Parts: sequence; C-alpha cells; structure tokens
Amino acid sequence: MAVVELEKLVKDYAGFRAIHGVDLTIEDGEFCVFVGPSGCGKSTLLRMIAGLEDISGGELRIDGERVNEQRAAERGLAMVFQSYALYPHMTVRENLAFGLENIRTPKDEIRRRVDDAARMLQIEEHMQRRPKQLSGGQRQRVAIGRAVVREPKVFLFDEPLSNLDAELRVVMRGEISSLHRRLGNTMIYVTHDQVEAMTMADKIVVLKLGTIQQVGSPLDLYNRPANQFVAGFIGSPRMNFLKMSVAETRAESIVVKEENGRSFEAAVSPEGVKAGDKVTVGIRPEHLEIGSERGHPVTIDSIEQLGGESYLYCTDAGGHPVTIHKSGQTRLRAGEEAQVFLPAESIHVFKEDGMALERLRIGEAV
Ligand SMILES: Nc1ncnc2c1ncn2[C@@H]1O[C@H](COP(=O)(O)OP(=O)(O)O)[C@@H](O)[C@H]1O
Ligand SMILES: [Mg+2]
Repeated sequence: MAVVELEKLVKDYAGFRAIHGVDLTIEDGEFCVFVGPSGCGKSTLLRMIAGLEDISGGELRIDGERVNEQRAAERGLAMVFQSYALYPHMTVRENLAFGLENIRTPKDEIRRRVDDAARMLQIEEHMQRRPKQLSGGQRQRVAIGRAVVREPKVFLFDEPLSNLDAELRVVMRGEISSLHRRLGNTMIYVTHDQVEAMTMADKIVVLKLGTIQQVGSPLDLYNRPANQFVAGFIGSPRMNFLKMSVAETRAESIVVKEENGRSFEAAVSPEGVKAGDKVTVGIRPEHLEIGSERGHPVTIDSIEQLGGESYLYCTDAGGHPVTIHKSGQTRLRAGEEAQVFLPAESIHVFKEDGMALERLRIGEAV
C-alpha cells in the first residue's frame, strides 16, 4: 500500500517560488506522470517527495502519515535518474547489491533479490560487466534494477529515457509499463514528453510554472483540456488555434465566426461567453476535414506523405499556421489552396483568459 498525498506543497529557492501550493493525491498502485515544459517544476516536486529537497510549506503524506521531516532513506521510496548514476568501478551485480549491503540485508536475501531483478530486466548475462561495457539501454535497466531490489513502496522516475535514442525509448517505455503491471507499485514518473505521458500514465498531472494545470487520464486531457495550455501541450502535432469571435449563443452550442469569413457551430456550453466576445477556437490536426465547399481557406505550404497517413502544413488568410493530419494519402500538392471544415463536435473553444468552454458532445470512440 502506498498512497501519496500532496497538500498545498510549496518550494522556495532563496526568494524564488518554484512550486506554488500543489494539491494532489496519487492512489495506491497508480502510474502517475508529471509532465510539462522544461523548468515547470517536475523534478523539484519529485525530489520533494523523495526527500532530496526540503519542503518549504504544506504537507506530504505517505499512507496517511506526514513525512515532511522524514529522511529520504526512511520514506521507502526508490528513485531512478536520467543519468543512471551507476558506480563505474563496480560490476552490474555489485551495483545492484550495493544499496542492500549498505542497509545490512542478509547475503542470501541480497542474492535472491538481485537475481530476480536481473531476470525481470533481462540483464542476467551482463552481471559481471562494468557500466561502461553496457549500452545505454542496458545501463538504464541496471539503474531500474537497483530500484527494484530495494522493494520500495513507491518508484520515482526522473526522465529516465531522455538519454536513449528514439527506438530504444519506445522499447523501454513498454518495459517500464510491464514492470508496473507485474509489481503493481505506485509509480511517479516525470517527463517533458507528452507521448510518454499519454502512453504510460493512468493519471497525468500537467504542470506549468510550478502550478497544476490539469489532472486526468490521458484521454480526459486529450478530449477535455481545461485550458489552452493543456490543449496545446497534449497531442501531436499540436492543436491548431484560430482567432474568432462569438456570433451567437444557443442552448447547447455556440456559433463562432472569423472576421469576413464563414461561421462554424461548436458543440460547447455557452456558459461564460456572449455574442461579440473574442475567443480562440482549437481544432486538432486529425479532426480537420478537407472539403469542396467553402470552409476555412488555407494555402498548402508543404506535405509529408507517409503512405498510411499524410500531414499538410498550411497557412490561413490571417497568416496562422494550420496543420492537417489525414489518414491515407492525398492528391493535393504544395502551393494549392484547400478548404478545411471544422466539425462541431471536434471544436474546442477557449475564452480570452485561456479557459475552455465545456464540450457537450464529443466524437464517440468506436
Ligand atoms: N537548486 C535550485 N536553486 C534555485 N532554483 C532552482 C533550483 N532547482 C531548480 N530551480 C528552479 O526551479 C524551477 C523548476 O525546476 P525543475 O524542477 O528542475 O524543472 P523541470 O524538472 O520541470 O525542468 C526552475 O525555474 C529552476 O530554475
Ligand atoms: Mg527536470
């Protein structure tokens, strides 16, 4: 059991507030991902949980017990770093065993745990090698193994895959997910990569400038981003944003209109806006439809044809970039004009303060 609770958690670094009163509960067995741009406070928050940074304010609880004052070693957590942090002069076996020897674990118990972890992480053949004789992926497996042998209540990962090449990152992503399924521990994972967050998390916490922007499942955040920041951060290529104004509010939708352009119905709640208000309309590249009737006109700047899917990079009359992601292939060519259509159920609308209007109907999953 390990429930991790953050209540009004604050971190001040000599006059600079890095974490601004964060409230969050991470449930037992949950895979929770902290995601956000560089400098938003992900590592700071993780290190506060780990006991590697003092807590300036608020309370941190593990299984209901306040641990603010507890030393890192007493919290029952294990952390895996981006830099591996292996001992270069020790073999893999020695690296795995070191932490347990330090706390005087019996020899046969150490052997059992090290062998189990090595099997789980498929590093059994390399036990007598030193870190520099291993590939990046193997080193990261050893670093994870070192956390596994400690049998922690909670695993903490700080961008563990950032030093690996793209292909290996995908493999290790799957391995960490399967480790989580096998062990069932609470895991907290920090990344700036929204694809890692989307593919691994039960729960994603989006951070910006030391504050939580939104907490939810991957599809919650994709379908119902609370604000324009989350909308732009989650999803790749990123959501298109178009400046429009409210032409009309209806019972269960609004009509948005571009200057001198056509109008579109958006299936969002009219609560919080009135006719004439300026809004930002968001639409994901995969939801734009290319049509023959008059829609939102764009000029195609370049096209990427991947065979199974196509990306069209365009500019609209207002000079805004518009990206279209379409499955299959396209006959369109760079330099041509296209009309794009915004389906009512795919439109996101953000008020001037950046907050989203509630979406009332969204395209159903099949
Ligand atoms: N030891 C420190 N002293 C002063 N400021 C720090 C220290 N560590 C981090 N910061 C600042 O706190 C903010 C959050 O940093 P960090 O948690 O490392 O962000 P992230 O991991 O999301 O990239 C940044 O503005 C960073 O410059
Ligand atoms: Mg960091």
